[in-house]
Amino acid sequence: MRYVLIWRFFMETILVLDFGGQYKELICRAVRNLNVYAVIESGAISLEKIREINPIGIILTGGPNSVYGEGAVSCNKEIFSLGIPVLGICYGMQLMAHLLGGKVSSGEVGEYGRVMASRNAADSVLLKGISDDFFALMSHRDVVSIPPPDFKITAKSANAIAAIENETKKLYGVQFHPETRHTEYGKEIIKKFLSICGATGSYKLKNYITERVESIRKQVGHEKVLLGLSGGVDSSVCAALLSKAIPGQLTCVFVDHGFMRKNEGDEIEEAFKNFDLKLIRVNAQDRFLKAVEGVSDPEKKRKIIGVEFVRVFEEEAEKLGKGEDIKFLGQGTIYPDIVESGGQFGATIKSHHNVGGLPDDMKFVGLVEPLSGLFKDEVRKVGKKLGLPSNLVDRQPFPGPGLAVRVMGEITKEKLDTLRDADAILREELDAISLKNRPSQYFAVLTQTLSVGVKGDARTYDFVLALRAVITDDFMTAEYAELSHSLLKKISSRITSEVKAISRVVYDISSKPPSTIEWE
Ligand code: XMP
Repeated sequence: MRYVLIWRFFMETILVLDFGGQYKELICRAVRNLNVYAVIESGAISLEKIREINPIGIILTGGPNSVYGEGAVSCNKEIFSLGIPVLGICYGMQLMAHLLGGKVSSGEVGEYGRVMASRNAADSVLLKGISDDFFALMSHRDVVSIPPPDFKITAKSANAIAAIENETKKLYGVQFHPETRHTEYGKEIIKKFLSICGATGSYKLKNYITERVESIRKQVGHEKVLLGLSGGVDSSVCAALLSKAIPGQLTCVFVDHGFMRKNEGDEIEEAFKNFDLKLIRVNAQDRFLKAVEGVSDPEKKRKIIGVEFVRVFEEEAEKLGKGEDIKFLGQGTIYPDIVESGGQFGATIKSHHNVGGLPDDMKFVGLVEPLSGLFKDEVRKVGKKLGLPSNLVDRQPFPGPGLAVRVMGEITKEKLDTLRDADAILREELDAISLKNRPSQYFAVLTQTLSVGVKGDARTYDFVLALRAVITDDFMTAEYAELSHSLLKKISSRITSEVKAISRVVYDISSKPPSTIEWE
């Protein structure tokens, strides 16, 4: 039912084969940023499916395993004989070497972080034009100790073969990660690989809009679509795209699940009044709160909320349809929602409510998810091209389950209200920072920890509140924002004095990975 892949619409596709590496989305985005469409598939993909996708090049991602390890994901060896250029990155290089007759061994010492690498062959095609010595991000223990026959060693680091290639067969391997900005010339290396693949760089979001409008019309026909509109970037852009494609057939439903931030429900309703959209607001606060009553497991909460959303949409569709069914549910699902919700891509980190949380017995016959192939930055660009104002398009992400995943553990109305008040103070203070210096995302989290305090000479035993502010451009990796102590002090003192049930404020200084941005 889900239409994830949109590669059919583009002539040039780079196929990114996933072996469990944490940087697969960065690879995909790095390619797209060079105007070549890229899509992620499981490393265990069949040759038949590869032929169907018809990629101009294949990139093998890194992965946590050793090629000899139990449960190591492999790929069909024939991939290297299809005549399609292949670039293996980290585990991808080791797998290529292993399958083609080279040797992989456990390195004496691993290499983690930025290390110096040196080009070893003046005539390397992939590394041509970059400096002889360059810093590269490494994250490995295993190494290719003997490259496969007919492969040249084209770069070395202190402890590893850093790059190999077989120019005749157009097979390349790099032990380092060119997709991260920590590798010098990483972008140039990926660009060179794309040029080896013969890419012309024809992937443009303008074409995307035209093609999506066509495909939405084809998918939906004369049927009606009910779109879940949360007011966030993704669903707002989705609404704009759907209303361009099927203006008279679209109804947007904004479900206020009671997990919105302070005054947010009213603000969203207000913001969309100015648009030419049919919008219905459903106040379902009590119903959602009841559905998660007593539930503290984050994955359970996410799934319950996902199901509840669909039930509300179904009921609204029935009311609106009056006998004539609304067949399609529109959602602003984007590519990372799908990748991070697991399934074909390995470990489930978090089930996004709109992906992993959909009930099996959903009454809608189809999903319309026209943004499901895009990354967040691409969605913002599409939104701008569609004429949406920057206060909608540049909004910070807000998780579909809302404050339900920012109140740790069991949720109550009182806890939600406490968090709303504290979060509003944090946002007020950080909103005042100039746009250029403002963190990419910031919010408060109500922890489950109670701590002793003293307010007005009396002992208190209240909640510990955590502040989170991160710098990121892709939301897949993030650094905590180095807020000034004076600002943190001001926020903390405002919160502890203005919000009754909070006695202590802490600042989260973890990066993603290993942490995630949200706490649940
Ligand atoms: P994590 O916590 O996975 O979050 O590092 C990455 C980004 O995604 C947002 N997020 C969600 N967005 N539905 C959404 O639409 C969700 O269920 C969800 N969970 C996390 C999060 O705010 C961050 O920007």
